[in-house]
Amino acid sequence: MRALQDQVILITGSTDGLGRLVATHLAQQGATVLMHGRDPAKGAEVLREIVQATQNPRVRYYNADLASLQEVRDLALRIRLNQPRLDVVVNNAGIGPVAPGLPRRLSADGYELLFAVNYLAGFLLARELLPLLQHSAPARIINVASIGQQTLDFDDLQLDHNYDDARAYRQSKLAQILDTFTLAEALAGSGVTVNCLHPATLMATKMVSEGSGYFPGAKTTTEQGAEALERLICAPELQRSTGLYYDGVREAQANEQAYDATARQRLLEISNRLCNIT
Ligand SMILES: NC(=O)c1ccc[n+]([C@@H]2O[C@H](COP(=O)([O-])OP(=O)(O)OC[C@H]3O[C@@H](n4cnc5c(N)ncnc54)[C@H](OP(=O)(O)O)[C@@H]3O)[C@@H](O)[C@H]2O)c1
Repeated sequence: MRALQDQVILITGSTDGLGRLVATHLAQQGATVLMHGRDPAKGAEVLREIVQATQNPRVRYYNADLASLQEVRDLALRIRLNQPRLDVVVNNAGIGPVAPGLPRRLSADGYELLFAVNYLAGFLLARELLPLLQHSAPARIINVASIGQQTLDFDDLQLDHNYDDARAYRQSKLAQILDTFTLAEALAGSGVTVNCLHPATLMATKMVSEGSGYFPGAKTTTEQGAEALERLICAPELQRSTGLYYDGVREAQANEQAYDATARQRLLEISNRLCNIT
């Protein structure tokens, strides 16, 4: 495993919350950090603040709205063109549930928004960056999922009926876990590991404050989630660990559907079709 100072680490959704804090910590330790966000003005401002606070000039910002699969593809292309190496991809960007009764929203591709941003974008980004990761092996893919998980209903995967944004969130988070296990299995022995985690419960972030229709308020600090995520990014003892789900720093058991090979295969086929991957 390379020293952190020699690593290139992409963190999606690093303009706020958990992603921003972890990007700052990694920049402090000298890594090359590829920040990502969806708002160029906010991205430029957060980049400026992180570079100023850490005095690390090797922090870059990439803009892409993950609610568009074309923007996900463009993001991957820009990274492949600009970066000769990539050690870690953290699929962290996400949107949370806001309040009961919120109408169903769609991505640019016409998919249910939380499914598209929280799950499908990371699914596609990992595939698009895979050649670069394999070229850079040992490398890591980390999916920031959640302990909030709900069994995927394959007859209504994108919640066309009886929409409920809390269910949409929990299904999207479990979908990330299913795909973590699928991709880890496919990449076994390649030097690219794939793991996922629930960082911490109700961290004091924008997602929790905006979700006041569901959440009673913050219960943990963002630092606690950052510690768990940074462990998956950096810990040398996890170099070979793959296909695992962590609750904080502890290896844990996810929703039982994640261990159902038929469900995983079904999700893979649907995701390939939705992303036009042949
Ligand atoms: N907070 C918790 O207690 C908790 C618990 C379990 C799991 N998680 C997971 O942790 C991750 C980070 O959550 P957080 O609490 O740090 O949330 P947050 O503070 O709201 O940050 C979310 C990040 O994702 C970005 N993002 C959202 N939609 C996007 C889109 N369409 N395209 C590109 N970027 C987008 C946001 O950009 P903007 O800055 O433009 O909004 C922001 O940078 C999520 O995956 C979440 O599900 C959080």
